[in-house]
Amino acid sequence: MAARQATPTVCVLGGTGFVGRSLSSLLVRRGYAVRIPTRNRQRNRRLLVLPGVDLRQANVHDEAELEELLRGCDAAINLVGILNEKGHDGSGFRAAHVDLVEKLIGACQETGVTRLIHMSALKANHNRGPSHYLRTKGQAERLIETLCGDEIHYTIFQPSVIFGSEDSFINRFAGLLRLSPILPLARLDARFAPVHVDDVALAFATALADSDTCGNTYELCGPDIYSLREIIDFVRRELGIRRLVVPMPGVLGRLQATIADYLIPGKPFSLDNLRSMSVANVCSNGGLKQLGITPRPMHQIVRGYLKPEPDRLAILRRSNRRRD
Ligand SMILES: NC(=O)c1ccc[n+]([C@@H]2O[C@H](COP(=O)([O-])OP(=O)(O)OC[C@H]3O[C@@H](n4cnc5c(N)ncnc54)[C@H](OP(=O)(O)O)[C@@H]3O)[C@@H](O)[C@H]2O)c1
Repeated sequence: MAARQATPTVCVLGGTGFVGRSLSSLLVRRGYAVRIPTRNRQRNRRLLVLPGVDLRQANVHDEAELEELLRGCDAAINLVGILNEKGHDGSGFRAAHVDLVEKLIGACQETGVTRLIHMSALKANHNRGPSHYLRTKGQAERLIETLCGDEIHYTIFQPSVIFGSEDSFINRFAGLLRLSPILPLARLDARFAPVHVDDVALAFATALADSDTCGNTYELCGPDIYSLREIIDFVRRELGIRRLVVPMPGVLGRLQATIADYLIPGKPFSLDNLRSMSVANVCSNGGLKQLGITPRPMHQIVRGYLKPEPDRLAILRRSNRRRD
């Protein structure tokens, strides 16, 4: 009898997040064992329904714990990322994006993991990035390119904004639109090429199975480019509501971001986010196409998960009739 091949094991840092859940589920369907560290196993226990997922409470910033996590793995995928830090000096971004990547490369070297797939961001740039977010994402890319050497075969992905039923982009705007009749917003001219979360997951899974992708960086974009205003208008139409969207010019936009950054708990928006939006979030080449993936258009899919606002008047009339 031929010996059975061991199931390949992939450690997915950030595997509990929006992208991570889609990717982990795809990897399981493709026959991988998936090891996912999390800071809160209880909160993410729904991942345990996926057969082959090993969800571990761990601190990935601790080098010894990181090595333990990677031991026996065939590949590491890094999806850890933050959109906002607790403070304002960039140290939170550096810890999550740069220091962690340096530790991850070290742990791969220590444990003999020779494949690393890393999630960056479109327009990441180590010195010209306009925000802490984009600069630290660029610095992580540089670390990977210089430290991996011949031992670790890496692939880097740079997506535009990612959408899907559990995203925090479209759903956030839908929430804001539902909340208020007037929505003042800065940078309505910012451009995006929203890419579907399952296309991003497919790109990662494709790279994992194809060694020709080693050493490459892929931009990931959806098929259409939208301004922020077009996205807001589209969401508003899908919700079936009328709203006044007011453009906030330069200084007022910065003031709005500063208030959200410093005064609102949980930082729904920040100056750093505003700075990231100063560069067009659109691809210069078609990374998905190079991988043989046809990107899904946003307008068709978002329709499936944005529920139109219930007609409150009709509900009121119906409940009055029931009382009659
Ligand atoms: N979503 C987008 O539109 C978009 C666009 C471009 C690039 N990206 C990048 O894609 C990656 C995944 O994005 P996402 O939307 O899936 O993010 P997400 O839903 O916020 O998930 C982030 C994951 O990272 C982990 N994490 C967050 N902060 C951490 C920290 N300080 N230390 C350790 N682990 C931490 C979380 O794990 P636990 O809480 O379980 O520990 C979580 O699983 C990120 O690197 C992001 O920058 C996202």
